[in-house]
Amino acid sequence: MAARSIISFSSLALTLTCIALFSYLPTTLAAQYNVVSLGAKPDGKTDSSKAFLSAWASACSSSGAATVRVPKGTFYVKSVAFNGPCKSSSITFKIDGTLLAPSNYKVIGNTANWIIFRHVDRLNVYGGTLDGRGSGLWACKNSGKSCPDGATNLQFSNSKNIFVSGLKSVDSQMFHVVVYGCQNVKMQGVRVTAPGTSPNTDGIHVSLSTGVTILSSKIGTGDDCVSIGPGAKNLWIENVACGPGHGISIGSLGKEAQEDGVQNVTVKTATFTGTQNGVRIKSWARPSTGFARNILFQHIVMTNVQNPIIIDQNYCPNNNGCPNKESGIKISDVTYQDIHGTSATKVAVKLDCSSTYPCKQIKLENVKLTYRNQVAQASCANAKGTTAGSVQPSSCL
Ligand SMILES: *[C@@H]1O[C@H](CO)[C@@H](O)[C@H](O)[C@H]1NC(C)=O
Repeated sequence: MAARSIISFSSLALTLTCIALFSYLPTTLAAQYNVVSLGAKPDGKTDSSKAFLSAWASACSSSGAATVRVPKGTFYVKSVAFNGPCKSSSITFKIDGTLLAPSNYKVIGNTANWIIFRHVDRLNVYGGTLDGRGSGLWACKNSGKSCPDGATNLQFSNSKNIFVSGLKSVDSQMFHVVVYGCQNVKMQGVRVTAPGTSPNTDGIHVSLSTGVTILSSKIGTGDDCVSIGPGAKNLWIENVACGPGHGISIGSLGKEAQEDGVQNVTVKTATFTGTQNGVRIKSWARPSTGFARNILFQHIVMTNVQNPIIIDQNYCPNNNGCPNKESGIKISDVTYQDIHGTSATKVAVKLDCSSTYPCKQIKLENVKLTYRNQVAQASCANAKGTTAGSVQPSSCL
């Protein structure tokens, strides 16, 4: 009797606790939308685009915070746009699985973006692998045939307060990740992989955006690891490993006559391994309103890099349709600090600036770059600035 009353007392207590918990939970936990519950199939071949879009629509119209869950497995999706503005206070994409693009490049090749977020405020993307299956399009491009431009794996456009962590982007047809027209974007632990021969597959491209941070990421691809376009401001890149690829590039600038400038860019603690360039600023040789200023490249290790430090204001890949004028892009206040390692060519520092707007306030401090165990060379045109500490090759400023 005594024992039974203890049991019934404890089950009453349990019941009360449960009631308390259940009345508490719905107001504090984010609404969850699992793409599989909405019809997505993790079999790598059933078109799951509709389930992803319906999960997004529900999350976007939730009143509180909302989560879109993508469980383990491979989900075949065509081009999808996740559009805001949303009612929800914040949306989290939690991705354990892989999103797989169509193998026929023509299906998404003319859509510009495979996956795009537009007009979104407060978005978190955790994990996930995006496999763009770009090899068919690259083969088309490399054969010289006429081909679609290709789709970017993932774009954030006109959005703010974005956090991306642990995302993996593989074999995009075109650029891997694009940040355009955004404010306050933080990306960390991003991994980009594509072959060194894949055309136009920039790792992360940032333009017309303020306050973008890229941390602890590893990028190997066929074009720039990070490319920084007009209108990028307050950009911070730290702890990035680049290779294969074309380096971290500001530009190309001066594509247009009227163009926004690039300012306040920090690239620190980066490694470049077997890349075509290390830290690069490039502009087309034509008049333009653009500029690049207040740039810091700091604590950088180069291993077998063809152009470790380069400013190229006569940029014209493949010498095809070169404007052959003087660049109007004004480059100033660029600091190279603690940069060492090996160059794969004799000229490790190349500063080829515009004669109408020479580069100003270039600073080289504690630079040591060698070529085949010997001091490399520096070459300057229209570049003005100063050196500090020990600089090898000796400066041509
Ligand atoms: C430069 O950008 C950093 C972020 O990358 C920011 O913290 C800093 O305030 C910016 N400086 C100026 C002068 O805007």
